[in-house]
Amino acid sequence: GTTLGASAAEKGRYFGAAVAANKLSDSTYVGILNREFNSVTPENEMKIDATEPQQGQFSFANADRIVNHARANGMKVRGHTLAWHSQQPGWMQNMSGTALRQAMLNHVTQVATYYRGKIDSWDVVNEAFADGSTGARRDSNLQRTGNDWIEAAFRAARAADPGAKLCYNDYNTDNWSHAKTQAVYNLVRDFKARGVPIDCVGLQSHFNSGSPYPSNYRTTLSSFAALGVDVQITELDIEGSGTTQANTYRNVVADCLAVPRCTGITVWGIRDTDSWRASGTPLLFDGNGNKKPAYTATLEAL
Ligand code: XIL
Repeated sequence: GTTLGASAAEKGRYFGAAVAANKLSDSTYVGILNREFNSVTPENEMKIDATEPQQGQFSFANADRIVNHARANGMKVRGHTLAWHSQQPGWMQNMSGTALRQAMLNHVTQVATYYRGKIDSWDVVNEAFADGSTGARRDSNLQRTGNDWIEAAFRAARAADPGAKLCYNDYNTDNWSHAKTQAVYNLVRDFKARGVPIDCVGLQSHFNSGSPYPSNYRTTLSSFAALGVDVQITELDIEGSGTTQANTYRNVVADCLAVPRCTGITVWGIRDTDSWRASGTPLLFDGNGNKKPAYTATLEAL
C-alpha cells in the first residue's frame, strides 16, 4: 500500500492515531489523518473529566466530533478510557469507598452504553499497576475501593457493550523482564482462567531514554497473545530523530506483524507539534506535516 492504513489493512491490521477534537478544523491535520489512518483514539475527549464533568451529568460533544469523523471516513475508534486514576473530575477525586466504586461502575456503564456499537476496542482500565520492581497495584482512590475494582469495571463494560473488545492498557509494560509487565501478564492470565471478560492488552509504548524500546518486545507481544487475548500497540511514540528513530519504528512494526494477534498500532499524535511531549520529535510527521524518515521506515515495514 501507499499509506499506513492501507498497508496495515493488507496485513489484517489497523494503523491509528490519537486525535484531538479541536484540531479537526486544521486542514493539514485532517488531510493527513484522512489519507494515512484507519483508526482513531480520542486523545482526551473520552476521559472521565471530559465525559462526566459533574457527577451524573455526561458530556459527549467533543468525543462525538471525533467518533462522527471516524465513522464518516470508515475509521475504527479506540475508546480511551473508562476507569483511570488520572484526569478524574474533581468530584471523583474526592470520593472513596462504596460511593466511589458505584460512581466508577456507573461511569463505565453510562459511557460504554452511550457508545455501544461504535467502539472497536475500549481501554476499560488504564495504568492500574505501579512502576518499579514490586509488581504491585498502583495506589489510587480506585485501588483503595478493593482489589477487585478492575474486574468489576470489565464486567460492567461487557454488559454495556457486548460487541466491543475490552482492553487493559498500560505503559512500561514493553520489556518482558520488568516486574510491571509480569504483573499485568498475571492479571490477564488470572482473568482468562476465571472467565473475567477481557479481549486485549494495550501496550502504550512511549519509548524514550528512560524506557527504551526493548530487544525482547516481540516476546512480550507474543507472550500476552498466547494467553488468548489480542495485543495492540496503543500510544506509540519514539524519542529521537533521523535514522535511529526510523529504525526503531521499523522494529516495532516488524514485531507487531510477527505476532498474529498483534492487531493494530496507534501513534500518539500526527505531527511532532501535536505530541503530548513538550519538546522532542517523537512522531511520523514534522510540524509542517511532511513525512519523516520514521514515516518511510514504518510504511516500508508494513
Ligand atoms: C495525555 C494526552 O496526550 C495529553 O494531551 C494530556 O494532557 C495528558 O494525557 N498515557 C495515556 C494517555 O494513557 O491518556 C496520555 O495522554 C499519555 C500517557
